[in-house]
Amino acid sequence: DDPAADPFAIAAAAASDIAEKTGVERHDIALTLGSGWAKAADLIGETTATIPATEITGFSRPALEGHVGSLRSVLLPNGKRALIIGARTHYYEGHGVRRVVHSVRTAAATGATTMILTNGAGGIRESWKPGSPVLISDHINLTADSPLEGATFIDLTDLYSSRLRDVAKGIDPSLDEGVYVQFRGPHYETPAEVQMAKTIGGHIVGMSTALEAIAARQAGMEVLGLSLITNLAAGIQTTPLSHQEVIEAGREAEPVISKLLAEIVGAL
Ligand code: 6GU
Repeated sequence: DDPAADPFAIAAAAASDIAEKTGVERHDIALTLGSGWAKAADLIGETTATIPATEITGFSRPALEGHVGSLRSVLLPNGKRALIIGARTHYYEGHGVRRVVHSVRTAAATGATTMILTNGAGGIRESWKPGSPVLISDHINLTADSPLEGATFIDLTDLYSSRLRDVAKGIDPSLDEGVYVQFRGPHYETPAEVQMAKTIGGHIVGMSTALEAIAARQAGMEVLGLSLITNLAAGIQTTPLSHQEVIEAGREAEPVISKLLAEIVGAL
């Protein structure tokens, strides 16, 4: 939180904490598991270490919040190492964008070259049924913020790797793609905001991922983004949205989409 601190040095310290506590010097891929995706952690391989996020530099928050989740090291059947990040700081929590992308920078500092970002989100396309997984093809960042500081002009072409999307479609050819629009939240959008998102080219609305993907590109990682459509966005579905509905849709879809994600990881 100190503006004079170097966020990359903090990420490097977090990566050494992880190396020390897992006994694993290098991870190859990292996954952030959002709403509905958590079970994938058990399916992709053998967990060899679980660390409470509070024991890793930069993950414990200064404020009140009790539960920040945990990180795991998983040995994949092909011998690669995955770092599972079960602790996401959302932009709407108000701790600043550095905190939001710390896990991604930490993943890069552990050696990971692939970053898989997952989330639960609202769908704008009426044909998407709640419970459907969708590949993120691109994003529109409506947070008016960036994880980059100063004159850091980086290219975001093919940010959500078409190569990795093709790997995913090789596992499930029925996977649809869409443009993810990150709003600040934590309220859901108004129907008018959803219409705006649609008009400017969006298909999925959510409160995470875009800022993290930008940080992953800055770190030179290849990004795969997957959204679970937990509900249709306000005004697209006629009933009011509820957080409970979002959680339940995630729980119901979890076995199917977690298996899908594990198969994608196995094919990387
Ligand atoms: Cl409709 N909007 C946002 N921003 N996030 C969501 C959502 C909607 N549904 C699940 N997560």
